[in-house]
Amino acid sequence: MKTIFSGIQPSGTLTIGNYLGAMRHFVPLQDDHQCYFCIVDEHAITVPQDRLKLRHNIRSLAALYLASGIDPEKATLFIQSEVPAHTQLSWILQSISYIGELERMTQFKDKSTGKDAVSAGLLTYPPLMAADILLYNTDQVPVGEDQKQHMELTRNLAQRFNNKHNDIFTIPEVSIPKVGARIMSLQEPTKKMSKSDENEKGFISMLDEPKKIEKKVKSAVTDSEGIVKYDKENKPGVSNLLTIYSSCTGESIETLEEKYAGKGYGDFKQGVAEAVIGVLKPIQDKYNALIDSEELDDILDNGAEKAAHTANKTLAKAKKAVGLGRVKKRK
Ligand code: TYM
Repeated sequence: MKTIFSGIQPSGTLTIGNYLGAMRHFVPLQDDHQCYFCIVDEHAITVPQDRLKLRHNIRSLAALYLASGIDPEKATLFIQSEVPAHTQLSWILQSISYIGELERMTQFKDKSTGKDAVSAGLLTYPPLMAADILLYNTDQVPVGEDQKQHMELTRNLAQRFNNKHNDIFTIPEVSIPKVGARIMSLQEPTKKMSKSDENEKGFISMLDEPKKIEKKVKSAVTDSEGIVKYDKENKPGVSNLLTIYSSCTGESIETLEEKYAGKGYGDFKQGVAEAVIGVLKPIQDKYNALIDSEELDDILDNGAEKAAHTANKTLAKAKKAVGLGRVKKRK
């Protein structure tokens, strides 16, 4: 059985971008893959976080994973900081990473440009991500398009380690969805939708109430042409809404263009809002039942234990391959 690993940062409430680009694709994989899904809280602290908000976001993300269909009987759901092997392997991988290649990462450049104090963690973020993946002998990593570069680096680090030390890491493949891999901001449709956007109108949070979703979709930036047509270059706003609509209902973009031919943006936006609410409402109901439950803690406790079992084995192999620690003299 092939192994899947993916992670999401608890750096704010997830957006419809996180859901359509990543989370929803995790669900069908559980049936015929060994799956690990992680709340990567150690990645989140590479930029400043409010302690209490972070705590809340970690739990909230766990509940969202489950509400969106992750089944703890089938997949292992856990919190990164509860499995110490992640930071331990990350240190080993940092030691074979080059500063130059880390500085070239787009996410690092985006998050560090113009800031006076940039944490070292922001630079060494990708070897931690590589450690997450490599600890589980992962074959496939489902992510949105923005993680492509980090995945390339992960593969390079795994290959470098295998060549230099011992052939212990599986080289993971990245899998990126055909539609929805890059959902754009509703206010600046040439920019990726992000949960850390300061302008709340730019993103739809997975926990936004239906009224709020409707309001945000209605105020989404479009153009003055009044034609519902996919044209990413010239009509980025409408194209983004079409992508969201199509990802939510499964209808093709062409079908939607035909459905709204001759109709204005008002009707179209109403349709987009209904499609998004149709997907999010059932998730929100399940989320509300889970967020304060003890069941959630039991699932995360079990998940951390199961993950650590596999992770510690790989970590031991990596330490041995590098020559860390000692060989005991007594039997
Ligand atoms: P993060 O937390 O930024 O995003 C989580 C997932 O959502 C996808 N995504 C999007 N997809 C479509 N449109 C968007 N606007 C959009 N924004 C985000 C991301 O591609 C991602 O799949 N570095 C990762 C977290 C991570 C990880 C890992 C992922 C840490 N370790 C190991 C996979 C495997 C990140 O920052 O994702």
